[in-house]
Amino acid sequence: MLSVREVTTAYQGLVAISSVSIEVTKGEIVCVAGANGAGKSTLLKSIAGAERPRSGTVTFDGSRIDGLAPHLVTARGIAYVPENRRLFPRLSVRDNLRLGSYLYRGQTDREGPLDLVFKLFPRLQERLEQRAETLSGGEQQMLAIGRALMTRPRLLMLDEPSQGIMPKLVDEIFAAVKRIRDTGMTVLIVEQRMAECLEIADRAYILQTGRVLIAGPSAEIRVNQDVRKAYLGL
Ligand SMILES: Nc1ncnc2c1ncn2[C@@H]1O[C@H](COP(=O)(O)OP(=O)(O)OP(=O)(O)O)[C@@H](O)[C@H]1O
Ligand SMILES: [Mg+2]
Repeated sequence: MLSVREVTTAYQGLVAISSVSIEVTKGEIVCVAGANGAGKSTLLKSIAGAERPRSGTVTFDGSRIDGLAPHLVTARGIAYVPENRRLFPRLSVRDNLRLGSYLYRGQTDREGPLDLVFKLFPRLQERLEQRAETLSGGEQQMLAIGRALMTRPRLLMLDEPSQGIMPKLVDEIFAAVKRIRDTGMTVLIVEQRMAECLEIADRAYILQTGRVLIAGPSAEIRVNQDVRKAYLGL
């Protein structure tokens, strides 16, 4: 479904990811894990159109998407929840969700995915009129994911959904990611919390200083001795 081939992306000449290749197959949850500064966010930005790769290709459902503007990538069926979530703080939960379905304006079933969003995150339904800035960190993450689902993506990309969130809500969010996949969507998730991410993912990649260090099925990576020592603290 998604194929990233030998992508190199740099900021003002400073290379952040170097010749990174990853594959995502329809129906999978794929985790990209790695430490601070490994290049995880840069990889997602390079797919989402937020950064233009210096070289390499990104192909989605058989068409090249590298170099496309972000809104065109969204229109192709990729939703991206960035690290900082980018909610509209002064707008209500309801209006933030509505803005997610902007692509479907004028259509009678514009709000179709709302049922799924409320099933996944009942807290959002209870807080529809509340301003986004008054939600807790975890609730804001739920809203960001909910808004992304309103675009009806085939591929959902999440950048560290657990960041700055209390443990109980982290579990809720990871559980929701699994349920999202069970509805037929494909998920690419970037995380520093490798253990939790490996638990829900089918396959994983570990990035280290801008390069893919290890790739494989989650079950194999979990028992890899080097990974256990370096990343899982075991
Ligand atoms: N806008 C930018 N301008 C210059 N350098 C950047 C920019 N964004 C990221 N970098 C650099 O690129 C490298 C990779 O950063 P990136 O944000 O992709 O890492 P990350 O794996 O997402 O880290 P974290 O877990 O802290 O979010 C880092 O060295 C970082 O300093
Ligand atoms: Mg990051």
